[in-house]
Amino acid sequence: MRGVIARYRAYLPVTETTPIVSLGEGSTPLIPCSRLSARVGRGCEVFVKYEGLNPTCSFKDRGMTVAVSRAVERGAAAVVCASTGNTSASAAAYAARAGIRCAVILPAGKIARGKMVQAVAYGAKVVTIEGNFDAALRIVRELGRRPDFVVVNSVNPDRIAGQKTAAFEIVEELGDAPDLHLLPVGNAGNITAYWNGYREYREAGQSTILPAMLGFQAAGAAPIFYKKIIEQPETVASAIRIGNPASWKSATDAIAASGGAIDIVSDAEIIDAQRWLASEEGIFVEPASAASIAGLFKCCSGARGPAYSFDSIAEGSRIVCTVTGHGLKDPDAFPFSIPSAVAPNESQVMRAIGF
Ligand code: F0G
Repeated sequence: MRGVIARYRAYLPVTETTPIVSLGEGSTPLIPCSRLSARVGRGCEVFVKYEGLNPTCSFKDRGMTVAVSRAVERGAAAVVCASTGNTSASAAAYAARAGIRCAVILPAGKIARGKMVQAVAYGAKVVTIEGNFDAALRIVRELGRRPDFVVVNSVNPDRIAGQKTAAFEIVEELGDAPDLHLLPVGNAGNITAYWNGYREYREAGQSTILPAMLGFQAAGAAPIFYKKIIEQPETVASAIRIGNPASWKSATDAIAASGGAIDIVSDAEIIDAQRWLASEEGIFVEPASAASIAGLFKCCSGARGPAYSFDSIAEGSRIVCTVTGHGLKDPDAFPFSIPSAVAPNESQVMRAIGF
């Protein structure tokens, strides 16, 4: 088993004596997508970094292995986090693995079932609050002042350090950094982490270019785009239902320094992109993850006034979209009906197939 600490130890805040808590996270596929590439045209190549294939089915595991390992090193008895679902699932799993306690503070009624069941199954103490993620994070910051708790939200720099390894993997697989990198933005830790990773790898001589970073928020939860705190964020993409991101400044810095952009996509665009990616490329992701795909479609359609138009990008540009979480995390966000049963014989079944 080779997790991100084993693979990238020299780039991470660990020492010889850090006890490594790992589930073999990272090394996720970078999938070349011919139909997505065709949507962009002009010989551009689009790749999807499928982070739903981590041990708890989201990108959070990359940072959690580092944060929990370091917490154990410091003798922490418990980790605590606020979450829209995935951080709590990941924290619960790594705490279970480490044999320490975990408490997760969640906005009541706003966590996808697949994520909630993970936190419970891994044995975390689940506390729901009458408030949103931003309120939960405020409380967790206060709890973090107690000596017995280590906060494992991305306000903990160990999380960001671990998450940057996704950029390393992409550089290694492509032989250089891509020209453009698209990803969903919620608490804004991941875009910060990727940018750190790309810069660090270039400084280490592993790559020659830096990508333009393009971040996408849900239109109803877009504080960075609108440059103001959103008190009541709303979106079908519950993972990025955040009105006051913790890494707001570092994300805007990354976007500006990279020559990228922040943009918004509507809930309808997110759900259409989720369905399209599953049915056209065979990659099923949760709604928040589809924001990067919806964003790519928006960039290709000058008519919709994208913040960053692909009309003028170089021919043959290489574009990576990170999709952050697995589709099975949130099946309720994908409405479908189970067809009624037919008689168990070939002709009836053939008729039901209908092609
Ligand atoms: N995609 C998914 C599936 C997420 O769970 C998150 C964040 C993001 C994108 C956005 O990443 O916050 O680094 O900008 N989820 C956090 C959580 C907030 O609690 O699970 P970000």
